[in-house]
Amino acid sequence: MHNKFAFGVDYYPEQWDETRWEIDASLMREAGFNTVRLAEFAWAKLEPECGVFDFAWLDRAITVLADHGLEIVLGTPTASPPAWLYAANSEIFRVLPDGRRLTYGHRRGYSPSHPEYLEHTRRIVMAMAQHYANHPAVIGWQIDNEFGDRDYSPAAQTAFQKWLKRKYISLEALNTAWGTVFWSHTYTDWSQIPVPLQTGATHNPSLCLEFARFSSDSYVQYQNLQLEILRQHCPNHFMTHNLMGFGYDQINYYDLANKLDLVTWDNYPRMWWNISEGDEPARAALGHATMRGLKNQAFWVMEQQSGAGGWEYVVPHPKPGEIRLWAMQAIAHGANGIIFFRFRSARHGAEQYWHGLLEHDGTPGRRYQEVKALGAELQELGAKILETRPKADVAFVQSYDSRFAFQIQQNNPNLHYAQFFKRLYSSFHSQNIGMDVVSPTNDLQDYKLVVVPLLHVVTPEIAANLERYVQGGGTLVLSFRSGVKDEHNAVVNAPLPGLLRSLVGAKVIEYDSLYGSTQSQVQLNLPARETQVLPSEIWCDVLEPEGAQVLASYTTGHYAGSAAITRNRVGRGQVILIGTAGEDLEHEVLAWLAEQLELHSQVAAPKGVEMVERRTNDERFLFVLNHTPEPQRIRLPAKGVNYSDQSADDGFMTLEPFGVQVLHQKIAAPENRVAHQAAPLWESQ
Ligand code: GAL
Repeated sequence: MHNKFAFGVDYYPEQWDETRWEIDASLMREAGFNTVRLAEFAWAKLEPECGVFDFAWLDRAITVLADHGLEIVLGTPTASPPAWLYAANSEIFRVLPDGRRLTYGHRRGYSPSHPEYLEHTRRIVMAMAQHYANHPAVIGWQIDNEFGDRDYSPAAQTAFQKWLKRKYISLEALNTAWGTVFWSHTYTDWSQIPVPLQTGATHNPSLCLEFARFSSDSYVQYQNLQLEILRQHCPNHFMTHNLMGFGYDQINYYDLANKLDLVTWDNYPRMWWNISEGDEPARAALGHATMRGLKNQAFWVMEQQSGAGGWEYVVPHPKPGEIRLWAMQAIAHGANGIIFFRFRSARHGAEQYWHGLLEHDGTPGRRYQEVKALGAELQELGAKILETRPKADVAFVQSYDSRFAFQIQQNNPNLHYAQFFKRLYSSFHSQNIGMDVVSPTNDLQDYKLVVVPLLHVVTPEIAANLERYVQGGGTLVLSFRSGVKDEHNAVVNAPLPGLLRSLVGAKVIEYDSLYGSTQSQVQLNLPARETQVLPSEIWCDVLEPEGAQVLASYTTGHYAGSAAITRNRVGRGQVILIGTAGEDLEHEVLAWLAEQLELHSQVAAPKGVEMVERRTNDERFLFVLNHTPEPQRIRLPAKGVNYSDQSADDGFMTLEPFGVQVLHQKIAAPENRVAHQAAPLWESQ
């Protein structure tokens, strides 16, 4: 599809005087950019009046950029419709859960279900597609911008009812699946079914889960509408959307990515809402792994942070070296394209403090110079790594249905799906163990270990997939609150963990939700390890083994002596159920499994130094990333070759503060034939 490494920038020519475009294009070329994303918010300039189009200015901008060798990704501008469109029909605005309709002033205000908005969308997308179908500089399309946010409008309600009718066919089937006899919520006509606007208190959880799925699907359908038009007119262009990583949980990204050619996402490691947590390399790594796993293929970062972000606040700028570090981390985790947000800091509008590569006055300062140096470095490296992929022996399974279910019923105030998931992921990340993040129905056979946090909603298909994996020799780790709900978000009519019970070889005979800072204690007896007593929190599943071995028991409370963690042998594999939460506890179990399954990389790294490998069958690139502000000296197990300067190394390397080095190695032939065989790394060639 796209056979070169994309290095580029997001540019808004409409925000700057036309006399400046030439200077900007030269600066882009000097920085080594080959790609520019344009036009994603330019609807008002492209269609100043309904049905009256003006592409002349964009054509001129593209000509200037193309003359400097830049290729163009066009955004469809539907995330920010013009004022005239909203003025014509204010019902196009989304409605919030509290029933308030949005008003004009920001962006992403539209209802993806409003028929009139769909008409406006068709018109602008069709006009753009026809105009740019054969433009030699255009290579692809980004549809809309960062889809998201549920809509509770009457248009959404009508679409929801239709969606349910298609799915359930009969009202009787819906009433039965949702158990609507409870509180007399039985529906006798499809039109009675509400969207879950805020009301007295809780809605039926079955309705809420279907609404979450519908809302996700409404964006998938909205994207499809644009995709069909674009594909029809521009069959040679690639299609993408810019997603929002692991953190965003309102859309099932597996569905959204399904029909796209390429996944791209927006990576902002430093935002005002995460500044207090400090920069966590694991957070960005998890985002990259999640995006890579949506299609199990290389992705791009469509917006890579290049300066201080901020609407009302200004967060700290990336320090010297950090822009390169963040970009290299993305590449290490599988990015084949890095597009920086944004070229020049805006003087106007809501994002005045969202700093780009150039300062507000257009000066190419430190951040621009750092990116230019990176551009020179990627000239060669970018081409070399294009066919390589990050290597992972471990898969983390992410279930959007379960995420949605916990949004509806959190179970415990301290239980957060994303936080718990990230905690387990971070435990391995800190040990530099490669991980993929995949869907519950993904083929799992190639992994040594599969970790599935909080698999709350389980379908027979998912249970069968996990069973197939374990029977074939895999090691599966499950957590508490697994198998609790069926696909309609009803509690299963069986002992927990429901459909997973025979796999786990134990049942939950009682559970305890630990409020506030209440803790329990667990005695951990892992084979070949010293016994330890560690705290547990949030939730305690009290387990009764049905063939499983007990790895840990509670030592406090009325269930002292009962099992907290079990291991069951199934076929050629094993299943570990961690029935409670506790950072140290989880870390111990995962570290023990890492040892047992030989997951560790052979290169030991100091804290804050991340190592990620991209490889083919014939060669490896090891990215060594120093996320700390201090220099780090690392001993490699054998003589290596420093890819960055191609000089032979003596087995040590020194990384500057926030420094990155890339090591390269050809893989000897015998190893190509044996999967997972350990071989000494980084021998001299
Ligand atoms: C992204 C968005 C961009 C810009 C950026 C900085 O979420 O796609 O358009 O808003 O954040 O705020």
